[in-house]
Amino acid sequence: MRGAPVLIRDIAGMRAFMSGRGPSALVPTMGALHAGHLALMRRGAQLAGDGGVAAASIFVNPLQFGAGEDFDRYPRDLDADLKKLHGLADAVFAPDAAEMYSRPQRYGISLPPMAAELEGKFRPGFFEGVAAVVCKLLNIAAPDFAVFGAKDYQQARVIGGMARDLNFRTTIEVESTVREPDGLALSSRNEYLSAAERAEAPRMFSELQRAAGAIRDGADFADACGRGERALRESGWRMDYFEARNASDLSAPLRGKPVVILAAGRLGGTRLIDNVEV
Ligand code: PAF
Repeated sequence: MRGAPVLIRDIAGMRAFMSGRGPSALVPTMGALHAGHLALMRRGAQLAGDGGVAAASIFVNPLQFGAGEDFDRYPRDLDADLKKLHGLADAVFAPDAAEMYSRPQRYGISLPPMAAELEGKFRPGFFEGVAAVVCKLLNIAAPDFAVFGAKDYQQARVIGGMARDLNFRTTIEVESTVREPDGLALSSRNEYLSAAERAEAPRMFSELQRAAGAIRDGADFADACGRGERALRESGWRMDYFEARNASDLSAPLRGKPVVILAAGRLGGTRLIDNVEV
């Protein structure tokens, strides 16, 4: 039985806490936890088992935010997050930026061309920042398992590929997206939406589902996605992409192979992403 998580602020303390305690799992997050994060944490706790150690990290990673993005206004409420993790996590690693980047980060992970597409095209440097911080977190915590959400589909693919190619000791687990009853994928950024934008936001998921259905019924990938993107634009979204890709490596989609449709767009000042597997 897990109780209140231990709050750990420093790398040495986190290393000491995680070592030699049986199966271990880490759920890396940027905080502002919602039910989607808690589902990841429940999976982490299950993987660690009663005899092991399950931890979350909470760190708003400056390296993965571009100029003009929402680093400064990203929601932060550590006390509320700690309460939500009660009974689910043994420890919460919440370092500050000076602890994580005690000197300028000069080394990084070289990423495949896939990381420069979709999110990488619209958020240059994002995956380099994610890969660097996840690599650091997994080196610090050295967990047997790390759990990520499928809502950030491309991120999960980039991290899984990095862990495989570089022989990380950690097994990467990906958990399904948790949704509101109206279909909106849970995201810490949903907090930014006005009431009118919140009412509009589930349309991205419904257009993704519509495109997936059309593709299953034999529609051309580009036609089905073009229709979805147009419908969102006509409803006031400023779309970055709405594309079908091969589900395993995000290359061009092929009939008969697993396909995922990914979308990103802005409602007012809030950028939302989502995806549906066909
Ligand atoms: O998905 C997130 O919350 C972040 O990108 C992650 C994986 C915690 C790295 O900062």
